[in-house]
Amino acid sequence: MLPLGYREIAFETIGSTSDEARRLAGLGADHGTVVWALEQIAGHGRRGRVWASPPGNLYCSVILRPDCALAAASELSMVAAVALGDTLAELLPHSDKVRLKWPNDVLVDGAKIAGMLLECDTGADGRVDAVVLGIGMNLVSAPQIARYPTISLADLDIFIEPEAMLHRVIGHLDRWFTQWQQHGFEPVRAAWLDVAFQLGHQIELARGEEILSGRFADIGQGGALLLENEGELVSVFGGEWTTNRSAPASGL
Ligand code: BTN
Repeated sequence: MLPLGYREIAFETIGSTSDEARRLAGLGADHGTVVWALEQIAGHGRRGRVWASPPGNLYCSVILRPDCALAAASELSMVAAVALGDTLAELLPHSDKVRLKWPNDVLVDGAKIAGMLLECDTGADGRVDAVVLGIGMNLVSAPQIARYPTISLADLDIFIEPEAMLHRVIGHLDRWFTQWQQHGFEPVRAAWLDVAFQLGHQIELARGEEILSGRFADIGQGGALLLENEGELVSVFGGEWTTNRSAPASGL
């Protein structure tokens, strides 16, 4: 079952649950509207990349209406990440295998098992009208992607139907969303950092043509990754990891 205040709209096949959720949000659909599908034929991820969406995995998009400024809405990707992390940790015999990779990925054993796409519509006053949080999670199959390793729950001998997983995910999402609304970003940030991938490591991020490198020191306001170089901190908002194989920084 979904928590109180949420309702699901299910499709067998759809282009993209996020496109549909954005359409519904534009028509005034409530906070807590969840669109999900057994399969997507035009699923997309960040940077417009294709998100392969064969039957058996989880594809859902949630409409959130947080009533906040755009800068704060980006914190919702961390809210969603900790919710996904908790969902997976309670299913896995070794919950310490779950790691959150900035900004929006969830890893198990270093391989991507879930990704999130946060899309935001603002009103004329600059405040957030609706956020559509799209979630894809590999339940039965993991699309092969050249840039990074992938894994599914079935690879770990865990079998769960998409709708059952949806209910678990939304339960944790609602809990963390409420926490964020009532207590702000700090508890979310702390929970995220607790299971962060490569925190304290020397990393490299590509931002457009630019390569940023430094020690992954912390997470700042709005979910920015703080890169440290010789004592100086730089806040990074958009960027892509260039490698998964960075070495720990000395002293850690
Ligand atoms: C990423 O890692 O790039 C984010 C992937 C997000 C995929 C999900 S699947 C459900 C929803 N519908 C989409 O078209 N995309 C998101």
